[in-house]
Amino acid sequence: MRIYLDNAATTQLDNEVFKAITPYLLEFYGNPSSHHEHGRLVKKAIEGARTTIAELLNTSPNEIVFTSGGTEADNTAILSSVRSHQIKHVITTPYEHHAVLHTLNALKNNSEIKLSFINTDNSGNLDINHLDNLLRDNSRSLVSVMHANNEIGNLNNIALIGEICKSRGALFHSDTVQTMGHYRHDLSQLKTDFIAASAHKFHGPKGVGFIYCRNGLQVLPLLHGGSQERKLRAGTENIHGIIRLANSLEIAHRDIDEHQAYIQKLKNRMIFKLKEQIKDVQFNGNSAIAEKSLYTVLNASLPVNHSGTDLLTYLDQNNISVSGGSACSTGSASHVLKAIGADLSKNNIRFSFSKYNTSEEIDFTVEKLSALYKAIAA
Ligand SMILES: Cc1ncc(COP(=O)(O)O)c(C=O)c1O
Repeated sequence: MRIYLDNAATTQLDNEVFKAITPYLLEFYGNPSSHHEHGRLVKKAIEGARTTIAELLNTSPNEIVFTSGGTEADNTAILSSVRSHQIKHVITTPYEHHAVLHTLNALKNNSEIKLSFINTDNSGNLDINHLDNLLRDNSRSLVSVMHANNEIGNLNNIALIGEICKSRGALFHSDTVQTMGHYRHDLSQLKTDFIAASAHKFHGPKGVGFIYCRNGLQVLPLLHGGSQERKLRAGTENIHGIIRLANSLEIAHRDIDEHQAYIQKLKNRMIFKLKEQIKDVQFNGNSAIAEKSLYTVLNASLPVNHSGTDLLTYLDQNNISVSGGSACSTGSASHVLKAIGADLSKNNIRFSFSKYNTSEEIDFTVEKLSALYKAIAA
């Protein structure tokens, strides 16, 4: 049996979602843009999914646009802000996901925007006064700050950042890909103008997500063609993806408190066991501080091992799947760890948990690591 501790990369499809998926693959196959009954049935199901999501997030259905996932949602939010809302200055963090950073760099290289980064300390805490100063210096800005970082788990105070943006007349986009389905988002209270979400991070299917765009703001279509999604996103809809997205978000919200408590316990156990069994272990960012980090992510900094054994390969060979950072950047040094000045010579491992993990899996993983360090020391 393999142990999967890479849930920030993607999650296992929820068993309940899996069971309910077949009718939309076999029976409800109509094109939602068709005017006959086959089409109408599917269109109704898509609009039902949109309403479900809007209700869970306390917003209205016309503020939700389905996309192919988090990357497209981030790109759409940023490009819409810049090109439809005359934004010339974007303020972000150095540890955003590449879906945000690479989009912003492309705009900067194209001389469309000036790009500023909010200062952080060595744990990745954002300097909110610096953000405020950056906003004071420039009139029309977009602020793009993720809710939780996918590598170090740091949670940013998007309620406060939203208030600051509002008071300074700036637009605010938040990449909520890692927190959607893991925390409740009340969009009637949060002062976010755009958020991005992806179903496969909360036990939904891959290749589907959504963008929330506050009423009154414009979404700039990235894809041109048919008039799907109110002409905001062309292309025949990923029907069963959209329906399962809503379904998995509903399940996630239904069980959120229970799962948060359970997963936080697993994470606490991992911290305790690692500290107990591996000398000099440290944790990157705020990932070991419960109230300041996503409960699903722990980024451990393990001592250099002089045997030359690659820890990720060693764990993989022992049937444990973990990663050194973002799955999308495998092979290159983590820009997130670099941004917070973490020691890159150490063995930095991201453990990320889900409701399907068990305490036995945590113990087994730490035992394997401990055995390796003992063997090296002997
Ligand atoms: C914080 C964050 N933003 C965006 C994405 C991209 O989402 P998707 O894989 O759905 O394109 C990811 C996925 O790793 C992520 O963790």
